Amino acid sequence: MDSIHIPIPIYFTISLLTVLFLVWSRRKHFPPGPTGWPIIGNMLMMDQLTHRGLAKLAEKYGGILHLKMGFSHTIAVSSPEMAREILQVQDHIFSNRPATVAITYLTYDRVDMAFSDYNPFWRQMRKLSVMKLFSRRRAESWDSVRDEVDSMVKSTAISSGTPVNLGELVFGLTHDIIYRAAFGSTSHDDKEEFIKILQEYTKLFGAFNLADFIPWLGFIDPAGLNTRLPAARSALDRFIDKIIDEHLRKEKKTVDENAENDMVDEMLAFYCEDGKVNEAEDLQNAIKLSRDNIKAIIMDVMFGGTETVASAIEWALTELMRTPEALKRVQQELANVVGLDRRVEESDFEKLTYFKCVVKETLRLHPPIPVSLHKSSEDTKVAGYHIPGGSRVMVNAYAINRDKNYWDDPNTFNPSRFLKDGAPDFKGSNYEFLPFGSGRRSCPGMQLGLYAMEMALVHLLHCFTWELPDGMKPSDIDMGDVFGLTAPKAIRLVAVPTPRLLCALY
Ligand code: HEM
Repeated sequence: MDSIHIPIPIYFTISLLTVLFLVWSRRKHFPPGPTGWPIIGNMLMMDQLTHRGLAKLAEKYGGILHLKMGFSHTIAVSSPEMAREILQVQDHIFSNRPATVAITYLTYDRVDMAFSDYNPFWRQMRKLSVMKLFSRRRAESWDSVRDEVDSMVKSTAISSGTPVNLGELVFGLTHDIIYRAAFGSTSHDDKEEFIKILQEYTKLFGAFNLADFIPWLGFIDPAGLNTRLPAARSALDRFIDKIIDEHLRKEKKTVDENAENDMVDEMLAFYCEDGKVNEAEDLQNAIKLSRDNIKAIIMDVMFGGTETVASAIEWALTELMRTPEALKRVQQELANVVGLDRRVEESDFEKLTYFKCVVKETLRLHPPIPVSLHKSSEDTKVAGYHIPGGSRVMVNAYAINRDKNYWDDPNTFNPSRFLKDGAPDFKGSNYEFLPFGSGRRSCPGMQLGLYAMEMALVHLLHCFTWELPDGMKPSDIDMGDVFGLTAPKAIRLVAVPTPRLLCALY
């Protein structure tokens, strides 16, 4: 039989097309996203990985998009449907956390709760925080909210008639609350030193590090991380070791059943030099906390509980100053429900319907953690797309809370939208409204955070009327934010208070 003669150029073309087809057909079908460069992928788009940048990209690519940052896959999720897929349907796969070199080092190799992967250790830390540290039964934290709000009202009353930097005021307030809840009221003297340590930690968490994306280029260290990381951690060691030693000495001396316990006391009940976890046992026997665990958890509480609450309060006041009719309505409600001859009490809260809507609308427009970070533990599929194990998943609550398919006029501050029957709540089952996240990794400090936010806000609104300084108009207020772990106002809100109550404020 004659063999078929194929000319050599055609033979090569067919072979090449076959190879290309095979490569193409075996290529994973990732979610859509911008094309990247060889090796560095989409790293030149690094500055777009903010809540606003990702929301813009979502307009072009949809609710789930894929970026390649060096060797790591990044998935950004910006729609309620995709958030539900990640945080509910496949929560068991997406409950790990991605960790950078800086995070791993500063959390003593992730022996905290917020940056730990989803594992038996994390489960025990979560139990410890829900049952002990952030529990409503632990009176010290809730007392510290009330006391520190009282001193804030007092200092504001003293400044009445002059411009008050509300941003600084509320950031100072939440530092005081959490500092006292964590360390007790005795250690206040060293607070400034501690705030400096926190500020350096914040910078280090946010610093760009090439080694996180292309590990073999770790020797390129323009931010000086190789020296700054050890320096920051030793500063924290010196600071908290002293506090732990003081608490240990105090414990030995006094066994007072009625003494108020701060978070360090609470954790020292589980203290053991070589902390380890045994999941089969009950809480008291299962958890052994080392000094590193205690320090790392304290930092979780500091980062989780200060900027989040403070930025929420500042944004609420900002939106109200920009929307005078809403400010008038919430203050009128306070005058009707509480009156002007006494201060607000906790029992008044349930009657403050519009005030609660103001809180919700603020958390919708300005979720204090605009983007939360998860990591997939294995290969999976979402909406038919391939998501490789180990992908970094960014859930963009900012974009989700403003999704125009779920919210009318989504960028407008309109608290009344929450008066409607069936309006979404933030407890985690309405995926179009996720200020506290949802699922396994949702916020364990929600109750305490809301309590602090509501207490501070309600007293500032009930005790004072507020005017913008120097003839400024509501529309002149700058609405820019800065993206980090949280997204506080870029330019602080300044306003002039005038006392409004008939009773004394201090
Ligand atoms: C208005 C106040 C607050 C808001 C809006 C908020 C929001 C959040 C969000 C969105 C997450 C991540 C959820 C996810 O990954 O899917 C989170 C986690 C966390 N929050 Fe909060 N938070 C607030 C207050 C607090 C407070 C007061 C504390 C502690 C005192 C706290 C401690 C934590 C911790 C430890 C985690 C990590 C949980 C884990 O990884 O398992 N938060 N929070």
